[in-house]
Amino acid sequence: MATAPAKLILCGEHAVVYGRPAIALPLADIRATATVTPLPGGSGPLISAPDLGGQWRITERPDEPLSGLVMAVIDRFGVPPDIEITIRSAIPIASGMGSGAAIATAIVRALLAYSGQTLPPAAISELVYESERGYHGTPSGIDNTVVAFEQPIWFQRRPSLPPLIEPLPIGAPLTLVVGDSGVRSPTRLPVGAVRERWQADPARYEALFDQVGALVEQARAALATGDAVRLGPLLSANHELLREIGVSSPELDRLVAAAHAAGALGAKLAGAGWGGVMLALTTPAQAATIAGALRAAGAANALVTTIAATG
Ligand code: MEV
Repeated sequence: MATAPAKLILCGEHAVVYGRPAIALPLADIRATATVTPLPGGSGPLISAPDLGGQWRITERPDEPLSGLVMAVIDRFGVPPDIEITIRSAIPIASGMGSGAAIATAIVRALLAYSGQTLPPAAISELVYESERGYHGTPSGIDNTVVAFEQPIWFQRRPSLPPLIEPLPIGAPLTLVVGDSGVRSPTRLPVGAVRERWQADPARYEALFDQVGALVEQARAALATGDAVRLGPLLSANHELLREIGVSSPELDRLVAAAHAAGALGAKLAGAGWGGVMLALTTPAQAATIAGALRAAGAANALVTTIAATG
């Protein structure tokens, strides 16, 4: 049995696909789980995902990205193939919380554990990236990276080099409220739409991505000193840029406005947008009020989470 965490993009989503930096955080308490059990000889691999899409033999659905991932790991690492892989996840799908990356990471970890092997996070992240491409088209790689490393990261793609991945110093604990719009939106749709707009008007979108990148640089400095009062407005400015990029939605804008009205230090959509979740940065004292305000404004769910300071 193995698990992997959900994730949040604190700032820099979308621009990260185009080479600007972004900051991502693991959510240790919200996890996907994969359990591997033996089947009789000759059965072949079976995936059981009661919460997701039922049960299938991977030979029946070879084009399904998880089938491809399981086959690749079995072939490459000599994992005994007569197995049932049962997946359970507390992470809402298509919500911007990295459900796909967490499920894939839990599967890789569980297959390796079943065959008595381990791999470093970077190698697990690479395997998961291949399966994420099946879901998302042109992912930056930030989701699989933060989920496999399970620590706050600074992430930046580089031309003809592996991405820059750095652990991110956090000077003081951060309190976040995560509000779920309840609207499910697969990552590849807004990512594809942004690509079309960028192709149609590269100068405008490059300029927007530059502005996002500059905010992310400032956010890194605010995080390092634990300065939430400085970080908040940077997150809110990132939301305005995401609106201009065209990936917000009326539901997300309403939740962001409700968070501000309830006293948040800053708020923004988190992840690919058009649906899924938003986050609000707050003092611990104000967190319950903001969660209540988000529910009153229509959030399907609102949870308070704390990101620990790094040592
Ligand atoms: C999704 O969590 C983040 C996006 O920037 C897409 C990606 O980086 O692959 C929207």
